[in-house]
Amino acid sequence: MRNTLIAGNWKMNGTVADTEAFFKAFKLTPKDKVELLICPPFTALPITRFFLERSHAKWGAQNVYPEEKGAYTGEISPAMLKELGCSYVICGHSERRQLLGEIDELVARKVKAVLAHDMTPILCVGETEEERNEGQTEERIGSEIKTALFDLDKKEIGKLVIAYEPIWAIGSGKAATAEDAEAVSAFIRRTVKELAGKKAAEEVRILYGGSVKADNIESLLKEKDIDGALIGGASLKAEELLAIYEKA
Ligand code: PGA
Repeated sequence: MRNTLIAGNWKMNGTVADTEAFFKAFKLTPKDKVELLICPPFTALPITRFFLERSHAKWGAQNVYPEEKGAYTGEISPAMLKELGCSYVICGHSERRQLLGEIDELVARKVKAVLAHDMTPILCVGETEEERNEGQTEERIGSEIKTALFDLDKKEIGKLVIAYEPIWAIGSGKAATAEDAEAVSAFIRRTVKELAGKKAAEEVRILYGGSVKADNIESLLKEKDIDGALIGGASLKAEELLAIYEKA
């Protein structure tokens, strides 16, 4: 049985003061089968931990560098995130791929490094609008997944979270329909099955991301291959995130 995961990706939003104000308005009622995760900027991780450590909610990071330590100016290691109590790390978000030139091979190393430090990677994949219009969605996502999973064993693959985030749906207010999101999520699960077998495919959790709000979460979660959501804009408002969590 796969637990539902509701994950907030704050992106480059949230000073320490903003984060404090957010959590003062965030009154969470825990639900057994629904995990809640917040991924603030690195600088807000300690205060996020302060507010969440006595709750059942988890916190995580938006990025990592796949080396133990050393001359990597400006980067953050997996051990540094683990030390701050992170449970999850987002790897290969499309904004990093597009704006910062992150390539599939680097994303694969990040996924591996996160697993090696006993945290869960949230591997992001997704197509552009042009790729979708040209019928290349599966080709693009299939290749992102194959590269990311290449160096992992079946047990590691079963622990992954894969977020399907169509690039055209991110921050656009134009979410994929539940049917379209399910079609790609089912393709992702089939791809995992081909690469790592039935058990891993049944274990891997697949999230949908891209303009998720309180009014579309229910229809998305009704789909059989969608196990949760990765939420950007709507996760910045305590009330909206709580409404999404309640509906999930
Ligand atoms: P959005 O972002 O919910 O603001 O569309 C989702 C994401 O980028 O993870």
